[in-house]
Amino acid sequence: MFASIAPRYDRANTVMSAGVHHWWRRRAVRWAGVRRGDAVLDCATGTGDLAIAFRRAVGAEGRVVGTDFTPEMIALARAKAQNITFEVADVTALPYDDASFDAASIAFGIRNVGDPVKGIAEMARVVRGGGRVVVVEFGKPRNRIIRWAYEKYCRMFLPRLGGAVTGKRAAYEYLELSAARFPYGEEFVALMRRAADFASIEVVPLTFGVAYLYVGVTVSANTRR
Ligand SMILES: C[S@@+](CC[C@H](N)C(=O)[O-])C[C@H]1O[C@@H](n2cnc3c(N)ncnc32)[C@H](O)[C@@H]1O
Repeated sequence: MFASIAPRYDRANTVMSAGVHHWWRRRAVRWAGVRRGDAVLDCATGTGDLAIAFRRAVGAEGRVVGTDFTPEMIALARAKAQNITFEVADVTALPYDDASFDAASIAFGIRNVGDPVKGIAEMARVVRGGGRVVVVEFGKPRNRIIRWAYEKYCRMFLPRLGGAVTGKRAAYEYLELSAARFPYGEEFVALMRRAADFASIEVVPLTFGVAYLYVGVTVSANTRR
């Protein structure tokens, strides 16, 4: 499914979110707390937008790796960005050493992962102690009126818009259903706690709670390798 929408994925994101998705990614980079020279892993990177935002934050002396299990997405990411290593990899079996990154991120990817607990566990494993695991995922607005309007938009317009831009309406019906069913807020925090031992987990609602940012600080005493 992701391979089939890859060529039009970026355009569909911009049309459906009216560009807001770029702002969400910038917030994720800020909350990751990375500094120049840091090493960052972006999982389920898709066409690489979050990895590209991290590249700017860590500077030329830093290192950014983007991974995704869909080769078609990785090919588009490679064409878009230089100075980032893009590799095909499943987030539930990351081919990296323990504590080899300062931060690991996943944006709009974790709800698609067959075993999300294993995915978060793997991200925490490759991050050094005191580093951050950053997740951005859809949620539901807390305000009842905004929530009603948002749910109507998701059910009635989102699959049509996504279908019109990509020609793959079923993929955007899946998006609506998967986002509606996936845990968010404290329920997702509980999922993260099942995956790994975090010293703290912050939850930041984005755009009334349409999406959420979760920032887990890892506890182990590992220093980056
Ligand atoms: C909705 S896209 C998000 C892409 C990008 N992170 C963004 O913010 O635009 C979801 C991505 O998750 C990837 N994905 C799903 N399950 C995965 C897994 N188990 N391991 C790696 N990537 C996965 C898909 O291939 C797809 O590119």
